[in-house]
Amino acid sequence: NWSMNDFIDQQIAKIRETVGDKKVLLGLSGGVDSSVVGVLLHKAIGTQLTSIFVDHGLLRKNEADQVMASLEGKFGLNIIKVDAKERFLSKLKGVSDPEQKRKIIGNEFIRVFDDEAAKLNGIEFLAQGTLYTDVIESGTDTAQTIKSHHNVGGLPDDVQFKLIEPLRTLFKDEVRELGEKLGMPSELVWRQPFPGPGLGIRVIGEVTPEKLTIVRDSDYILRDEIRKAGLDREIWQYFTVLPGFRSVGVMGDGRTYDYTVGIRGVTSIDGMTADFAKIPWDVLQKISVRIVNEVDHVNRIVYDITSKPPATIEWE
Ligand code: XMP
Repeated sequence: NWSMNDFIDQQIAKIRETVGDKKVLLGLSGGVDSSVVGVLLHKAIGTQLTSIFVDHGLLRKNEADQVMASLEGKFGLNIIKVDAKERFLSKLKGVSDPEQKRKIIGNEFIRVFDDEAAKLNGIEFLAQGTLYTDVIESGTDTAQTIKSHHNVGGLPDDVQFKLIEPLRTLFKDEVRELGEKLGMPSELVWRQPFPGPGLGIRVIGEVTPEKLTIVRDSDYILRDEIRKAGLDREIWQYFTVLPGFRSVGVMGDGRTYDYTVGIRGVTSIDGMTADFAKIPWDVLQKISVRIVNEVDHVNRIVYDITSKPPATIEWE
């Protein structure tokens, strides 16, 4: 008779037994999984846990602040927040190929994390938010909750972290249930999927601070209106993209030549296939009017009506 409360008690006991008086490091991404791991570990071992939160500047509006306010402010986690915005932007300068952007963001993320980790002393374990679906996909042994980890750059070659993955037996919906049981706020627990490269792959082509502002501010308006319309749990994922071309418009007496913002909304079970969401026209209209009025340099809004396949959910 499996219950989430039993799971929490068992995991806490297990984590304490494994960790003893040693120290654990966790990389927070702002997503659901690593946040839940953080709160669970904090409950189990308190100040023996140190978390690193890399702000790559590609997060959604207010996201970094929300994560800090909740995990550090409310739950009391010890978080090292690294402001790496400039570092990521300069690496991305002049790069427009999507796969190259992904690679740069992923590599830089590991570098920043390792740089910070190397400053810490006496860490023996690395915690990760690996889910059952990740375990199946990578085909590793499900019974094994701890295994040794590859070296982390910046540390001496013989330093190895042991892995702690308390979510290894859970599916996504169970992680959300666990988060709720741990008292986490619903805006964290019910966060929609968000890609690791973040807004970096929602600005199509080269990423610039100006374009990031457009995609971030338009995305914020979209999320606000979807929530107000009560659709936030119905639509699996919804966001804006900036294709990067400009077109002609008219404002007052003048001609404008500004950017087009694309809106993407999909329903899906697991992201493998998806349907475009049938967002009511009046909601779309409100979003369109607000984005054009409130975000500078935007004069046209389009809605993506392709499913996956043949399109993907993200545009890059
Ligand atoms: P696509 O665009 O391939 O996306 O239909 C399927 C799901 O995966 C997310 N996604 C990513 N997640 N790193 C991630 O962590 C990535 O590079 C990445 N690309 C896509 C996407 O948001 C959707 O939920």
